[in-house]
Amino acid sequence: MQIHTIAHIDKREPSDALVIPFFKDHYVRADLGRLQDICMAPVHAHDFAGKEGQVVALYPGEPEEKRIFLLGLGPKEKCSLESLRRSYGSLARAFLKHKCKAVSIVVPECELIPHELVVKALLEGLILAGYVFDKLKCESMQDEPAVRLEEITLIGPELHLTAKVADKAKKVLEAVWRARDLINGNADDITPHFLATFAKEISQEFPRIKTEIKDKAWIEKEGMGLLLAVSRGAAVDPCFIICSYTGLPISSDHTVLVGKGITYDTGGLKLKSIENMLSMRADMSGAAVALATIEAIGALNLPINVTCVIPACENAIGALSYKLGDVYKSRSGISVEVTNTDAEGRLILADAISYAVDVLQPKRLIDIGTLTGSMAVALGNELMGLFSNSDFLAEALFQAGQRTHERSWRMPLYEEYKEQLKSDIADIKNAGSAQGGSIFCAMFLQQFVKDIPWAHFDISPVAFNKEARTYWPKNATGIGVRLLVDYFEHMDKE
Ligand code: BES
Ligand code: ZN
Ligand code: ZN
Repeated sequence: MQIHTIAHIDKREPSDALVIPFFKDHYVRADLGRLQDICMAPVHAHDFAGKEGQVVALYPGEPEEKRIFLLGLGPKEKCSLESLRRSYGSLARAFLKHKCKAVSIVVPECELIPHELVVKALLEGLILAGYVFDKLKCESMQDEPAVRLEEITLIGPELHLTAKVADKAKKVLEAVWRARDLINGNADDITPHFLATFAKEISQEFPRIKTEIKDKAWIEKEGMGLLLAVSRGAAVDPCFIICSYTGLPISSDHTVLVGKGITYDTGGLKLKSIENMLSMRADMSGAAVALATIEAIGALNLPINVTCVIPACENAIGALSYKLGDVYKSRSGISVEVTNTDAEGRLILADAISYAVDVLQPKRLIDIGTLTGSMAVALGNELMGLFSNSDFLAEALFQAGQRTHERSWRMPLYEEYKEQLKSDIADIKNAGSAQGGSIFCAMFLQQFVKDIPWAHFDISPVAFNKEARTYWPKNATGIGVRLLVDYFEHMDKE
């Protein structure tokens, strides 16, 4: 997708649509010239009231464009970055419906919001909602194959700044699309090996990223008994991906990002129901988000050091599946009684965390994944859960969530919960009662963290949507990429 900038509406090239934004009850604009009268007709006819996300198409027969879209932004005094994202999300759907490839968009002036943030929010709404996943469809079977947006011309002041902000936003949003493609893709295609190939490709594109792919023999040598146990029932081998970005070689400051890479979760011998299994190709969302984040960081050339660590395997059912009631030894030496083979994410993360803490020795560690169904019981489908042993790290991640609207809510990790981890025959067990299931999972992971600042994101409620809403599409959201990139952009060293 190409993004251009021009200073005035008169300089526009022919396009499929010209978009003119209006706040509710503010319909007079000095910059529109003779287009002003054309735009007022729907207002006089009471067809357009400038409501948030309202889109009206006009066909005035201008030579420059096929149509004009009036876009409602809602009341001016209530305008926020999020209301802009929502409005431009509606616009993206209108573009898809009208098969627009090239468009010209007048950037609105929002008194309280700096121009560059308006541009960023506008592109976020537009590009996040404009995503289409039709790779698994055959064109001849589709009544109307999707037409994607290829060219956006932004019309407004501060051309240089606008172009700079647009370029940065585009890089991050393209990474979000890439994460979604991985998550939406068939589990038969997006295997552990495929994730590894993806990581290799990123390192070929960006010289500051280096990827190491470790095979099953290496995992065995490392003593990662939990990752090996989970992967045992599958026809595909596990792999362990280490993808590091060095943007500040002179600094020893270093963050590790661990992503859950279960490429399919059947539940193992504790088999899931059809309803619960249908979306389990998305159980590598954490891995996809972590890899896309490092890709975006590479594209932005941020002055930080990050290593992405991905334990990747399938939780399949078969003669070799790991067993309920058996005890498996983790890389750290802690033995784990498997009381539920469906609580597999915490097992593979535990071995990855232990490796990261002992070998990579980062200043802080953040893990992310679709860990528990009970996270949505606690928070609904709006937020992700955030657990942390560090108030400083938790606050910084919370604030990044507020800025990007990829919001989280901090959950407790009180000592009292630790009691539930106890096992009669092993050091700890991997699952307890249904109540407080997400907290159990986080307490389990904490056993492998030692003392470094650590945060755990349980993104189960928001990684994969049952229905499209606001600017989020149905299915994979890629949520977490914008949050993490924003965190790294604002990172204050501890
Ligand atoms: N991958 C699931 C969690 C999940 C559920 C993600 C729904 C997205 C949507 C995870 O591996 C799992 O099955 N967790 C169990 C844990 C339980 C057995 C303690 C769960 O949530 O039921
Ligand atoms: Zn599971
Ligand atoms: Zn899972």
